[in-house]
Amino acid sequence: MSIIIKGLNKIYPNGNHALKDVNLEIPPGMFGLLGPNGAGKSTFIRILVALMEPSSGSINMYGYDILKEREQVRKIMGYLPQDFRFFAPYKTYEFLDYAAMLSGINSRRERKERVDEMLRSVGLYEVRDRYANKLSGGMKRRLGIAQALIHNPKVIVVDEPTTGLDPEERIRFRNLLTKAAGNNVSIILSTHIVGDISSSCNNMTLLNKGQISFVGAPEELIKKAEGKVWRAIVPDEIFQQINEEYPVITTIPVANGWEIQVVSETPPCEGAELFAPNLEHAYVYFIDSKFDLWRKG
Ligand SMILES: Nc1ncnc2c1ncn2[C@@H]1O[C@H](COP(=O)(O)OP(=O)(O)OP(=O)(O)O)[C@@H](O)[C@H]1O
Ligand SMILES: [Mg+2]
Repeated sequence: MSIIIKGLNKIYPNGNHALKDVNLEIPPGMFGLLGPNGAGKSTFIRILVALMEPSSGSINMYGYDILKEREQVRKIMGYLPQDFRFFAPYKTYEFLDYAAMLSGINSRRERKERVDEMLRSVGLYEVRDRYANKLSGGMKRRLGIAQALIHNPKVIVVDEPTTGLDPEERIRFRNLLTKAAGNNVSIILSTHIVGDISSSCNNMTLLNKGQISFVGAPEELIKKAEGKVWRAIVPDEIFQQINEEYPVITTIPVANGWEIQVVSETPPCEGAELFAPNLEHAYVYFIDSKFDLWRKG
């Protein structure tokens, strides 16, 4: 069982064609949706969680048609939106209790057990009496994931969950997701941060300008950048030149100038050596070569 997306298009009323014939199958496990700002990730996700209708196309989620069976779909799905906020002055545990009620857990006792369990699992038990809007940024995000997981969903959708988190909270958040992914659920993680994907997703897709340009394991994407990443040590003026012409991924100051890593089809300068690509290089190479986002000389 999985999520099957066919011929998905979204044209906003102002004519923006935000998704263009998206076809995708999302298996259980952690699935990364990677793309630059404006790629269409949030649009895709709002359709996936049945908050917005596509202009055309269909999505089947574990046997349910998300357009015709919204209620059932909501029951098997947890969602953490990109702009997750609290509108009412709830205490942390009250907020979770409310989320549990909304997701259909009717028994008060069952809710209490579930809320306590979630508070412990995301490390918010000690602050359960604090008002949710008084929590730190990282704690708010953890509360966000707790409300998404409260009813043991089959499908968990999170939109840009680590934006604005410090490294420690980021790792903590990823670990929470990885733990949830253990139970044969599908987790869809939308992000423009390559590190979020490389550290946790077994499968991924690359979305750019509304179109899918890659689907597969992150390692397969990395393979596509082999032979395209160069390392060189250059003096300041050469660095400036290269920086204007090519996507430069890493710059480290060294005694006689800069050590740089550059994505390019051919050596960007004399003395450049091939370098083993990582996912960030591959992402840049792929977006660059396919869609010309960066201008080459
Ligand atoms: N309500 C809307 N009406 C018209 N155009 C929209 C609307 N929402 C988004 N768009 C446009 O659709 C495209 C995709 O936007 P979307 O928010 O889905 O991208 P995103 O990948 O989530 O970007 P980000 O990384 O910045 O969150 C953009 O060009 C955006 O300007
Ligand atoms: Mg977005």
